[in-house]
Amino acid sequence: MDRTKAIIFGATGQDGSHLADLLISKGYEVTAVSRRCSVDNTQRIKHLLDHERFHLVQGDITDASSVINILQDIENVDEVYNLAAQSHVGVSFKQPGLTWDITGKGCLNILQSIVDLGLHCRFYQASSSEMFGDSYDVNEHGEKYQNEQTKFLPQSPYAIAKCAAHYMTRLFREANGLHASAGILFNHEGERRGENFVTRKITKWIGNFVRWKKHVADEETEWESTYEPAMTFSEDDIHIHPKVAEGENIKFPKLRLGNLDAFRDWGYAGDYVEAMWLMLQQEQPDDYVVCTGKTYTIRDFLDEAFGYIGIEDWSDFVVVDPKFYRPAEVDYLRGDHSKIKEKTGWEPKHDLDGLVRTMMEHDLNGII
Ligand code: NAP
Ligand code: GDD
Repeated sequence: MDRTKAIIFGATGQDGSHLADLLISKGYEVTAVSRRCSVDNTQRIKHLLDHERFHLVQGDITDASSVINILQDIENVDEVYNLAAQSHVGVSFKQPGLTWDITGKGCLNILQSIVDLGLHCRFYQASSSEMFGDSYDVNEHGEKYQNEQTKFLPQSPYAIAKCAAHYMTRLFREANGLHASAGILFNHEGERRGENFVTRKITKWIGNFVRWKKHVADEETEWESTYEPAMTFSEDDIHIHPKVAEGENIKFPKLRLGNLDAFRDWGYAGDYVEAMWLMLQQEQPDDYVVCTGKTYTIRDFLDEAFGYIGIEDWSDFVVVDPKFYRPAEVDYLRGDHSKIKEKTGWEPKHDLDGLVRTMMEHDLNGII
């Protein structure tokens, strides 16, 4: 039986792992590319490793020969997804060269290999709302938004590398006739999100804090089974437990964050990989914005996440640390997903409330 074959570069990441789940559920033969690491980086896809239609290969998109070998080894590949990136904006200011090599040039390595090998596959590039940077349009109600027509004004080495990859994808579509599409995805999060992105940093901290609180309060307590999401803490409990008075030095560090005033359009990663797949099912390749259309500040996210454990005022738990400020910031992101909705029917299934609930449930249960 001839199955649809896909290659995912970046399969060990948040989106790659959700996409692999989706494609496997659709009956695909999936080749997942992971880069060589000194420790195991397959945590997010470990549930797929023994699946008969899931194949893990090693490779690195900064190495053109490695990309060619992977593409060559799979006969008649149908879909190639490039999700691989140095994807942390803050890190890109400290490692711009590495970010360029992976996030920018890596995409070119894949596109050029597809052309050189004469493959007839479809290609997806993971473009980003970071590319808009400081730019937005204003609608008839005076609301700011970004869509496929909004100009790019990138504010970080990461965003500049993403712009280069985005334009390269367009060029290969137009100059070489490739079925190459780019999804301009706004922030999307979830229980598999890397722990140094702001949403997961918050939910993970709260999960650890609750675990610590329960453990210190009563060492006999199996906190997972007795935990009540609605429980509240008194302010005095916060980071120094009464046992400190008994001579034990038990403290819990506060949550240290940077800019709390940026606006982000946060969706759920599981919903967004569906949009990637839909793009490659269209007859014509194109670029699409993928987002929820709603925007919130980091403060709003903190309200929701702390609210989940019954804390209304989180100010005593959070410290603003300039160490986490960025040299340049993207202040406002709110997308308009009219185009993808009209062309493919795609819509987000999670609002902020649902997203926070999913992440909090996960981090409070400590499953990963
Ligand atoms: P992620 O969790 O950081 O995953 C990135 C993936 O790229 C990981 O599998 C990583 O491998 C891999 N990778 C890094 N360098 C590589 C290299 N040189 N060769 C091969 N693979 C390499 O990112 P994500 O959140 O899943 O995002 C997926 C893609 O969408 C990225 O391109 C990101 O920039 C873009 N994007 C993300 C969002 C978002 O909100 N999540 C929004 C817009 C666009 P390791 O696991 O070994 O680190
Ligand atoms: N990471 C982080 N850590 N961000 C913080 C912190 C902190 O301690 N404190 C405040 N922030 C602010 C950042 O300054 C930024 O304004 C916002 O929280 C979101 O930061 P991230 O979660 O790191 O995401 P991002 O918006 O910079 O980038 C993500 O979304 C892009 C799409 O717009 C990444 O997933 C990118 O790969 C993606 O392209």
